[in-house]
Amino acid sequence: MNQDFDNNAPLGSLDEWEDDVLLRYPEPHTPAKAKEEFRNYDDPKRDTVKEFYRLNHTHQTYDFVMQKEANYLKFDKKEMPAWDAFNFLNTLVDDSDPDTDLDQLQHLLQTSEAIRADGHPDWFVLTGLLHDMGKVLCLFGEPQWAVVGDTFPVGCKHSDKIVYPEFFELNPDSQDERYNTTYGVYEPNCGLRNVHMSWGHDEYLYQMVKDHLPDSALYMIRYHSFYAQHREHAYEHLMDDYDREMFEYVKLFNPYDLYSKAPVPPNVKELKPYYEDLIAKYLPATLKF
Ligand SMILES: [Fe+2]
Ligand SMILES: [Fe+2]
Repeated sequence: MNQDFDNNAPLGSLDEWEDDVLLRYPEPHTPAKAKEEFRNYDDPKRDTVKEFYRLNHTHQTYDFVMQKEANYLKFDKKEMPAWDAFNFLNTLVDDSDPDTDLDQLQHLLQTSEAIRADGHPDWFVLTGLLHDMGKVLCLFGEPQWAVVGDTFPVGCKHSDKIVYPEFFELNPDSQDERYNTTYGVYEPNCGLRNVHMSWGHDEYLYQMVKDHLPDSALYMIRYHSFYAQHREHAYEHLMDDYDREMFEYVKLFNPYDLYSKAPVPPNVKELKPYYEDLIAKYLPATLKF
């Protein structure tokens, strides 16, 4: 493999991470043969995803997360209406194939439209629309491994249920006795609200909209990439009863995120008025980034 290992952007596009999640967690009713064809292990994208996780697991330390929280949770970078943020997100230029890949807004609309088609409440539809808006972090200069990727708690032992757990050997926290025990800096069943997660688009957006949406929506936003818990149940020991109740919503949301890719791209122009009204119902006219 001919690759620059100091490259902070191994993925051709952020979607390559999501494509890889889909390989790990295929839609339950996909016929076995189709699954097999889908699992193309010669795909060069698999190497770039692996390199992406090497960087993510190496550099997402407790201190790194503290620094990012201190910087971004001031929300002093930019101020814009939600719809402008989608357009801003769509300026993200990557190496994805423009003929086959959906842009970021199209992914958000497919997710929200699938939720709407199933008759769910409007706050849930809005959550579908917003859930990846935090990826604007990329446009503020953050490397891919600090924007996307499976998220996990920092400040305590890394579970071997997290994808590519072997790369955590490269993370300085795994040699630090403050952080490498089962509970680390936390107390048993302290509740995830007291736990710092690896930095990325989930936590950033949660912090941005936390005063405006119900808790069920906020859990979906904050933990949608926390596969080690919502799929693998690896961090029960940090959760309290309220987390357990709310994770039912995280689980309800996940299939819409992963499996809503319809063959026909959504008609942005037609859908915009409905979503502008929905945004206005819950969110302030402009958001602070
Ligand atoms: Fe996401
Ligand atoms: Fe998504």
